[in-house]
Amino acid sequence: MALRIVAGTANPVLAEEAGAVLGTKPAPAEIERFPDGEIHVVVGPMRGDDVYVLQPTGPPVNDNLVELMVLLDACRRSGARRITAVVPYLGYARQDRRSRPGEAIGIRIVAEALEAAGADRLVVVDPHARGLEAMCPFPVEILTALPVLAASFSDLVAGPGSAAVVVAPDLGAVKLAERFAALVDLPVAVVRKTRVSGAEVHAREVVGEVEGRRTVIVDDMIATGSTIEKAARLLEARGAAPRPAVAAVHGVLVAPAPARLEALDPDRLVVSDSLEVPALGAALEVCSLARLLGEAIGRLHFEESVDDLGAFT
Ligand code: R5P
Repeated sequence: MALRIVAGTANPVLAEEAGAVLGTKPAPAEIERFPDGEIHVVVGPMRGDDVYVLQPTGPPVNDNLVELMVLLDACRRSGARRITAVVPYLGYARQDRRSRPGEAIGIRIVAEALEAAGADRLVVVDPHARGLEAMCPFPVEILTALPVLAASFSDLVAGPGSAAVVVAPDLGAVKLAERFAALVDLPVAVVRKTRVSGAEVHAREVVGEVEGRRTVIVDDMIATGSTIEKAARLLEARGAAPRPAVAAVHGVLVAPAPARLEALDPDRLVVSDSLEVPALGAALEVCSLARLLGEAIGRLHFEESVDDLGAFT
């Protein structure tokens, strides 16, 4: 089985760079938007191949998701023997449970749609919750960007007199923050948050020692920036040093995130390139996942474990 990478239009640069790690270029694919918005895909010959379709489903989420499904279908109809959807950022992953009657579980239907379209397995990077695996009818390989992000914070490593703390901006981020904190050898504090709406949250309380300390807020994603902004304001009100550092795996960064982050003026803002990230100003640092994804694709192709690249580390 030949290894073949197919790049969607959501992040072709990342696909190109991940391919370069393996010494291969993305396979030819025509991806066209019809005037009415339909997505039309034609892929090159791939009969009997081991195909990796790289397409994060960030904004516009539904367009990128449908493009991924149409790409998977094109690969299947072209005779690919095994198809892996490589979706560094998976939209809808936050909709993994019902918090009130009448609500849908969005990720469940997305997972089933990916299988129906032709995915034999899924590769994701730091999904919103590990429970994603249980939603998927196919194997899921969960990779983590935390070591890549943490490398940007090596100067914060605790030593005598170090006064920094890693902060989970909500309870859902505690595991992520703990794993990040272990990498940079710092303690953890937690903000208790409630969500008011899709674009607004309320930060209620801080658990842990933050007074007089620099803070590094760690989350899986920044969408509207409300979670980070409210956590930062509460931390400052509790005596933490102003201008927190922020590390988030996925820079979803929809409005009004740019304005919120500009007003917050973080000391450092680090995200991965799981999504194409808009220019946000000097503080923004984008860490590449190309090596992580290239390594993972190469190992999966040769039936090797990727456990040490992922959530089990
Ligand atoms: C939610 O639980 C996630 O982990 C993020 O904290 C959240 O989705 C970020 O969204 P926003 O930037 O809109 O607050």
